[in-house]
Amino acid sequence: MEFKQRLRSFLGEDWTDVAGRMRAALHSDIRLLNEANESILSHNGKMIRPAMALLFARACAGTVSEEGHKVAAAAELLHNATLLHDDVADRSDQRRGAPTASSVYGANAAVLLGDYWLVKAMDLMLSTGPFSMEIIRIFAKTLSDLAEGEMLQLQKAMQGDTSRDDYFRIIYSKTASLFEASCVSAAVCAGASEEQKAAAREFGIRIGIAFQIRDDILDYTATDALGKPTGMDLREKKITLPLLGALLAVSDERNRLVRKMVCEIETHPEYYDRIRDFVFQENGIAYAGTVLDEYIAKAKEALAAFPAGEPVRLLSALADFIGDRQV
Ligand code: IPE
Ligand code: IPE
Ligand code: MG
Ligand code: MG
Repeated sequence: MEFKQRLRSFLGEDWTDVAGRMRAALHSDIRLLNEANESILSHNGKMIRPAMALLFARACAGTVSEEGHKVAAAAELLHNATLLHDDVADRSDQRRGAPTASSVYGANAAVLLGDYWLVKAMDLMLSTGPFSMEIIRIFAKTLSDLAEGEMLQLQKAMQGDTSRDDYFRIIYSKTASLFEASCVSAAVCAGASEEQKAAAREFGIRIGIAFQIRDDILDYTATDALGKPTGMDLREKKITLPLLGALLAVSDERNRLVRKMVCEIETHPEYYDRIRDFVFQENGIAYAGTVLDEYIAKAKEALAAFPAGEPVRLLSALADFIGDRQV
């Protein structure tokens, strides 16, 4: 059976519960708000973060409690909020094969929509009874990481001096931190041991980093099937792992030259093809792929802390799926 089908059929009612909670949490009597929310919900994405949360709840406790469902739904609401804001920041006009909210309703409305989804996520977290303080603390850190990550990315795009360490800090903050929060919060609501919470955290961080590396590779290699524009990172002057890998293979002088071209790409759009060719010629994609595989393997090691069974097998399959996802 295909991985996605296997996942859906295993999660069964947990899955439908989460989708129902998201829709109910978002409901408003403002027509424009409801219309925009429904349109976003109708183009739902891969739902990887709630899937991870539900699988960790099952791995720790066998079943998913109401609080577990709530944090899974909150994680996906929060993820969508960050995408609404990210598409404004990245001036992107396509998401999940459809026009972005910012291109349909304007950047001002998209920012407000993102705020709304964010607050609805917070409401769900607040309603997790005895766990609520801890859950809010976990996600508050993630929100702070997210803003810092996106700001550092902007700063580095202006300076053109992204190092490997900067890159890893950016992708941990803007992406892996939410994967971490999704996994840990599910473990917390499942009453997991400290050892299991730590293992869920490690899995989330490593998978989150791998997920963003794959995203950054796809920005160079994907076709229209991706459902969002490609080549955006370079155009936005973002130096990601494929380019960093290529830069590692050349002299300091060439390094400076290519970085200077990245900084000047707005006024010299013809540099785009030259930098892209450079990434492929200097094996930047293969380099990023090797690092990605290491993170997938390290993520799977963290699963040893949980009893063997279908949740752990599915988490391992999810790791493989993320390693070579095409969308
Ligand atoms: C996109 O995340 C944003 C990144 C962190 C790269 P997803 O690829 O999980 O987005 P959807 O929800 O499946 O569309
Ligand atoms: C991840 O980075 C964005 C968020 C954390 C919201 P990207 O800017 O690469 O994500 P995409 O490619 O637009 O989905
Ligand atoms: Mg983006
Ligand atoms: Mg991207």
